[in-house]
Amino acid sequence: MAYDGKILGRVRQAIAEDKARNEAEAERRRTQLFAAVPELRDIEVRITRLMTGVVNSALRSGEDAGRAVAAARGECQALLARRGELLRAHGYEEDYLDELYTCPDCRDSGYIMGRPCACLDARYKLEAARELSSMLDTRGQSFESFKLEKYSDVYDPELKKSPREAMRAVFELCRDYAYSFGGDSPSLLFRGGTGLGKTFLSASIAQVVSSRGFSVVYDTAVSVFDAFESQKFDRGGERSEETDSKIKRYLGCELLILDDLGTEMTTSFTASALYRIINTRLLNGVQTIISTNLGTEEMQRRYTSQIVSRLEGGYMRLNFVGSDIRRSRPL
Ligand SMILES: Nc1ncnc2c1ncn2[C@@H]1O[C@H](COP(=O)(O)OP(=O)(O)OP(=O)(O)O)[C@@H](O)[C@H]1O
Ligand SMILES: [Mg+2]
Ligand SMILES: [Zn+2]
Repeated sequence: MAYDGKILGRVRQAIAEDKARNEAEAERRRTQLFAAVPELRDIEVRITRLMTGVVNSALRSGEDAGRAVAAARGECQALLARRGELLRAHGYEEDYLDELYTCPDCRDSGYIMGRPCACLDARYKLEAARELSSMLDTRGQSFESFKLEKYSDVYDPELKKSPREAMRAVFELCRDYAYSFGGDSPSLLFRGGTGLGKTFLSASIAQVVSSRGFSVVYDTAVSVFDAFESQKFDRGGERSEETDSKIKRYLGCELLILDDLGTEMTTSFTASALYRIINTRLLNGVQTIISTNLGTEEMQRRYTSQIVSRLEGGYMRLNFVGSDIRRSRPL
């Protein structure tokens, strides 16, 4: 499980809030019950005193220590039994005054012996899914709802097969890619006209890869380049910390999905930002999926030949074919 700093930060915050809420609730119960049943307060005072006594005699050590501890344990058990009795007599569960935890395993710290607790993992997954769906429409866009019937089954002489056959291969490759995604996976270049399912399959891959515990970031080229631009021209500005962390995620996450490349206003700045993304990520050995409507020539015209050669050399290209699904009648 690779944790994304931003998401992990939110999860730890939520765990800390739980902890604080539980502590406040435990305190409220104590205050309320101590007022109603003063003997409960006496019991607590005596237990605390016993505990300190045990610690002190343990520190002194020697033969007496063992005997003192045993005696204290006996007394403590008697006090706890009395406390349970009192609580039940007043209509409460015996553990009503115990410490409260949302996760007793890690006592709401999120970690057990320095390792992430299962509760932290579970929350992280939920938060990562929420983060993804805030960036792209993941509702109804999954491998399970992908419809091959959206692509024509009429033979296309140029493809030497029907669009449906061609897209079946693309679909299967994407699905296998998502379920076997790892450090050795290639990066992908989705190419093809508008409305052919590039974003749909990106969303499908993103959900599977993210649910398998990899850090996945989805964004459109326009907003990715925006971030690079404000990092450069708005340094020290109000939102520069946020921008820096965004860029760190773009460069460092295990799978970056850069959608709609070519819809931005292409300038030498966007070209160099794109180069930085592609190059840094190749060097870091992390994967990228880039979607674009642009063909090779148009790419060459807009970006540098360095970029195009890295894309052609390092990326697995998938051609999306067929006719615009947005314009097609519903099946
Ligand atoms: N195979 C499919 N089965 C069902 N719905 C699909 C399929 N492919 C695409 N769609 C739907 O068709 C619409 C267009 O698809 P999508 O957004 O993925 O196209 P795109 O290739 O990303 O287009 P663009 O280049 O304009 O971004 C979306 O509403 C999407 O949910
Ligand atoms: Mg799209
Ligand atoms: Zn836990």
